[in-house]
Amino acid sequence: MTRYRPDAKDARSAADVSRWRMALGLLPARQRVALALLVATRIGMGFCDLLLAGAMYVVFLLLQGGTLAAHRWWTPKTVLSASCLTMVLVLARIVIDIGSTAWMVRFTQNLYGGFLLRLTEGYGQMRWSQFVQRNRSEMLKHSTSTALDAAFSYQMFIESIAGSTVVCLFAFALVYQSPKLAISLGLITLLLYALHRFAMRDRLAAAAAQRESSLRVLQRAVTETLAANKEVRTYRNQTFFHGRIHDEAARVASSNVRLAALPQVARVLAEQGVVMLFLGIVIAVELQHGPMRQLLSLLVFYFVLSRRILPMISTLALTFGQLEGAYENLQIIHQELHDCMVYRSVPAVLETPAPGFVLEIEDLSFSYEDGTRILRGLSLRVRAGEIVILRGVSGSGKSSLLNLVAGVSHPDAGVMRLDRGSVAYVPQEITLLDDSIRNNLLFGMAAASDAELFDCLAAVNLGEFVASLPGGLETRVGDNGVLFSGGQRQRLGLARAMVRRVSLLLLDEATSALDDENERHVLRNLASMQVAILMVTHRTDGHQFADRTQRLEDGVLLEPVAAFEEDALSRR
Ligand SMILES: Nc1ncnc2c1ncn2[C@@H]1O[C@H](COP(=O)(O)OP(=O)(O)OP(=O)(O)O)[C@@H](O)[C@H]1O
Ligand SMILES: [Mg+2]
Repeated sequence: MTRYRPDAKDARSAADVSRWRMALGLLPARQRVALALLVATRIGMGFCDLLLAGAMYVVFLLLQGGTLAAHRWWTPKTVLSASCLTMVLVLARIVIDIGSTAWMVRFTQNLYGGFLLRLTEGYGQMRWSQFVQRNRSEMLKHSTSTALDAAFSYQMFIESIAGSTVVCLFAFALVYQSPKLAISLGLITLLLYALHRFAMRDRLAAAAAQRESSLRVLQRAVTETLAANKEVRTYRNQTFFHGRIHDEAARVASSNVRLAALPQVARVLAEQGVVMLFLGIVIAVELQHGPMRQLLSLLVFYFVLSRRILPMISTLALTFGQLEGAYENLQIIHQELHDCMVYRSVPAVLETPAPGFVLEIEDLSFSYEDGTRILRGLSLRVRAGEIVILRGVSGSGKSSLLNLVAGVSHPDAGVMRLDRGSVAYVPQEITLLDDSIRNNLLFGMAAASDAELFDCLAAVNLGEFVASLPGGLETRVGDNGVLFSGGQRQRLGLARAMVRRVSLLLLDEATSALDDENERHVLRNLASMQVAILMVTHRTDGHQFADRTQRLEDGVLLEPVAAFEEDALSRR
């Protein structure tokens, strides 16, 4: 698997442009437009602040009996009109601020939902052999917390683009008022950038990478400890498992500390730098402008600007640092979506089988990613209502064959004819939803009547049991059916397949957890259901219920053995 993970330095040299491109590339066109508009509204807010500072300057100038040097048609001439203009600007500022903040929150949540869906859909469409190579808890982490962090990083992108533009805007205004001040502001910004670029960036990127990889391991360790809790309690080795969690949690904590602390250093330096700058302004203004009349209005102008520019510069210093951590999340989402697309499975176009048949396989070959050939030139035909048993030693490829028929994975070569919409599959390990018995049977299917559900439950010898439960069909089964016995879980899985009323049932040791009596009962019911069944079973007397048995050996199916022959063979 090619992991696109640019190594620290060389990737970072091309970094900034490609980062922005990658970040934008992850957004659908509509959200790109929303991002641009959000940046515009944030810049608009800064522009409002600038106008507000100007308006206040005029109000105070007029109050002191002064006049503006240059008159334009739009400059207020009276204190009243200047005050009204100020009020209008304050109101506009409030509306833009509240509106754009609410929009930003919605934008982030939509992005999060989008990433979450694209990832889960992408994983679901990935080639099976690629999908199983991934760790489930890591996929869970990427789709939830990483996706959320990545979505939030767009807020930082917006704030940093808008913030930088507004600081530039203010700097231009200051050049107009006082070039020296603008130069000092420029110098402070430059110093902060140098501090970020040379002292922080690499450290932050390393801490972010460390945090993400530790979080992945941590999530895996917690999931495994909870999943294997029965064994953990039996072997009384909580110390080992909790030790693993403790060590990884410590690594997450230390990288989180670095990620939080470094940008704060930049923030504190920025804040204090700007305080010094404004102290300088007051002195400079006093020295330059002498008479107190001008001074008051100028101070108001600077006060309004500083109220905005001061937190903005410190926020920018903080945001640039945090972006470094956020970039790691974006890169993960980008990588995962990229993999989902590259390894997307392409379902084969299936032909319809000849009349009277539900499955026809000719010359089928299949191998996993590592190249080991599992099936070679395999052929098989199953008639409607026929029951075929598949045998073979462990690892001979029985489950792989059923996966191919079910459409879980796809063959390298060969022809397969079947109606995939009419296939149900009970895999070796059934997964139950932490939900009601009803929803486990329906499993996303449109509603079925209680009578239909109870018919299927009765076929797997669960009818009376479920009817006797106080909650009946609404009884919850617990996390992966933990509240049920192994055999009950398996029978629920079988009933789930039966509810679908298909023409071909694929059963992979689907009765392995049942006692003899239950297994015979279930198989007898299945045999009377007029449904074709392709099943893997280790039962020696399984052939009693089957029309023929076929053996899988060296990737091919050997000649079928009819039921009566098998009977004779097993009696020998
Ligand atoms: N995802 C995978 N990637 C690579 N190899 C795999 C994968 N899944 C299974 N295999 C290999 O394919 C071979 C066939 O596996 P399969 O699960 O089909 O065997 P099986 O006949 O069902 O065995 P069992 O009776 O033990 O269930 C095995 O050698 C196994 O190691
Ligand atoms: Mg198997």
